[in-house]
Amino acid sequence: MLNWLFDKKKNEKVNLSHIGIDLHSHIIPGIDDGVETVQESVMMAQKMQELGYSRMVTTPHVMWDCYKNTPEIILAGLEDVRHEVKKAGLTIQIDAAAEYFIDEHFISLLANEEQFLTLPGNRLLVELPYSTPLMNTFETLFSIIGKGYQPVLAHPERYTYYYSDPSIYKKLVDQGCELQVNILSLGGYYGENVNKMAEWLLRNNLISFLGTDAHRMQHLDLINKGDKNNWLSKYHFQNEKIINI
Ligand SMILES: [Fe+2]
Repeated sequence: MLNWLFDKKKNEKVNLSHIGIDLHSHIIPGIDDGVETVQESVMMAQKMQELGYSRMVTTPHVMWDCYKNTPEIILAGLEDVRHEVKKAGLTIQIDAAAEYFIDEHFISLLANEEQFLTLPGNRLLVELPYSTPLMNTFETLFSIIGKGYQPVLAHPERYTYYYSDPSIYKKLVDQGCELQVNILSLGGYYGENVNKMAEWLLRNNLISFLGTDAHRMQHLDLINKGDKNNWLSKYHFQNEKIINI
């Protein structure tokens, strides 16, 4: 589980090198609601490097109603980004997986044992709807595990329908799901309730990974300004599991 301490000194430069690897972002241009140009991708890779990250596994949306991304599309985009990042002289390593929305398309990919793009450790990053709970979330998570993947639930703190019974998060973890919280949730970017839930998950030691979920430079700028806004200084982050992969 993720360790956290209130030991960061005020006004110290933001340094997230303890996290090391970011495993949630949208920096492949033009294929989802993330960056639009490869120049933006390079700028974001540079900012990630400045923040202390040595590697990012970027995760374009696969959401069949909106973003019909396949491994071929994602990996072709990755090659372009890598080429430009290398040309810019950056050292950050960039790989790609995907953020799979649990929809009928996802269920059929799983049933047909199609290729998934995974995070290190054969981890499958999945997201749920924001407003209405799925009827079969637990069954789907079991199916993912049954197919040999480790499910990682993206930004659980943003699924407001779980707030009435937060014990569901413990149940998710007990049943083998890892939770990935967005760093900006701790800064109040998504609102007070999301912030409170992210802190609750931290206090209860339920978080396996912190991610940027960066879609644009603004997100990284906000993380970078964390100290000035006096929220990031409360935390010392370490993605232990990822570091050990
Ligand atoms: Fe995302």
